[in-house]
Amino acid sequence: MNRRKFIKRSTMACGAVAFLPGRVLAQTDKASNSASSGGTGAGAAGKGKSKTGEVPDYAKNMLHSDMDGIGPDGKPTGQKATYTGASKANAKAEEAMKHKMKLTKEEQAILDGKDGKEKAKLMKILVTFGNTFGAEKLVDLGGAPHSNMFIGAPYMKSMIKMLDECAKAGLKSYAPYTVNPRPYDVYNVQNNAKDMTMIYEGYSLQWDLDYVHVRLGAPDLNYRTCACYLDEVGNAPDPGTYVAWAESSAVNYGNSVLGVRTNRNGAGMDLIQAMLGKAPLFGLMTDEGRKAKWLVEVKTSQEPDWGVIGTAIGRKCVEDVPYVTGLDKYFKGGKVTPDNQHLLKAMGSATASSGAVGLYHVEGVTPDAKEKGKKLLAKGYEPYVIDDKEQARIISTFPNLWPDKNGDPTAAFIGCPHNTYHEVIKWGKLVTEALDKAGKKEAAIPVYMFMPNPVRDRAIEEHGELISKMKRAGMRATNMCGVSYAGMKGFSDRVRGVTNSAKTRNYSTVRYFPDETLVKIIVTGKIPKGA
Ligand code: F3S
Repeated sequence: MNRRKFIKRSTMACGAVAFLPGRVLAQTDKASNSASSGGTGAGAAGKGKSKTGEVPDYAKNMLHSDMDGIGPDGKPTGQKATYTGASKANAKAEEAMKHKMKLTKEEQAILDGKDGKEKAKLMKILVTFGNTFGAEKLVDLGGAPHSNMFIGAPYMKSMIKMLDECAKAGLKSYAPYTVNPRPYDVYNVQNNAKDMTMIYEGYSLQWDLDYVHVRLGAPDLNYRTCACYLDEVGNAPDPGTYVAWAESSAVNYGNSVLGVRTNRNGAGMDLIQAMLGKAPLFGLMTDEGRKAKWLVEVKTSQEPDWGVIGTAIGRKCVEDVPYVTGLDKYFKGGKVTPDNQHLLKAMGSATASSGAVGLYHVEGVTPDAKEKGKKLLAKGYEPYVIDDKEQARIISTFPNLWPDKNGDPTAAFIGCPHNTYHEVIKWGKLVTEALDKAGKKEAAIPVYMFMPNPVRDRAIEEHGELISKMKRAGMRATNMCGVSYAGMKGFSDRVRGVTNSAKTRNYSTVRYFPDETLVKIIVTGKIPKGA
């Protein structure tokens, strides 16, 4: 097995979530030691195959990353995200780096080596990062970090090595932190010799990466999830807390729904900031950077399809902050609760993956909007209306990417970002009741339910009978990242996937369907006519 070929499809689709600044990944080859681009040094294992500005061969099949701007027609606009919360096409690091931020005496001393050479190097990277993005100063972090360093593939070697050196020097995160799901699950999903071979050859550094995490302060693997903010996982810092999170969907949810303040960090930069307990203050961490450049009015005649309107917003706003109206009626009393948070999770992750939105405000619902209302709108903001027609138009741009376009579906993917407890129970009931009605015991296709293990455990404890029924019906709980599975080499030749996740759709060949249609597909194994 050629590792490069494996990586080409298996990890980059999901890794792109934070690893790659658009199609210019090769630039991270050059900058891999500084991490100042927000990349991860992902090109380190590219072995110099690609030149700056070209797509490395292992990433050729990626449709695009969430750092690209996608126009209303679903095609790339050529605009690149800059992590600053404000679209700046063609921003140049050389220009930005002329800026110098102010350091405290203590920070300067760390930079000068007071706490050892490893920490001094980290500080150097962080200061360069801050200068590049025009930060005025560093701020102390609170709450807990969230890392998206989750792929132990060879192209991550230089980053893993650097973190290993930090761990050996005794450095640790300022607080225990959460980490994205692992890219595979050989117990519940890829429990066959062919997939396992590809995994063990392709993710040959997974053990090294997990070993790094455990020494830097991550809890055990049960807590691996992209939805770190769920009650069962517990990484939900108070509003206004500065954190340095990575993982586009977590950053997006944290900034918007929790009201924390973080930029969209690249993998690796999350941990550098965690070990220093500091972040440069710029972009989405500032009042100015949290201002909305778009007024998005949702005027659908019925409850919108959350993933679809998220896609619409992401494509329109790219990485600008939108202020969204017309959604408060779906949140009783303007409250985000465990049984409605999945709506914003679905919408937000779609804005973050079809564009690069790191923060949105929902009028009457999210904390910044509740406090400041329309005062959050920046001068000269632009309007965008999503009505039934616009929603339908967006759906019509979702292509059928199955090689056998008319084939029957073979697997369902539910939970990207990871399912909440409420979603697990909801889907359990929807599917098993539909099966009962059809006089069937088993779904026509396997249904992968992606969730953190503490959510699975709670569901077993509180709904044991339902969970047993789900298992018998072919619904499998797994704590892996579904998009990583959908990105495996040869996946689309073997699997015709269906999902209700706009994010999964965005990064893979898995087809998107609304919940009601998805239930029918799971029961019958067929795509309903006209769907
Ligand atoms: Fe989570 Fe993987 Fe989707 S990390 S958000 S399941 S792409």
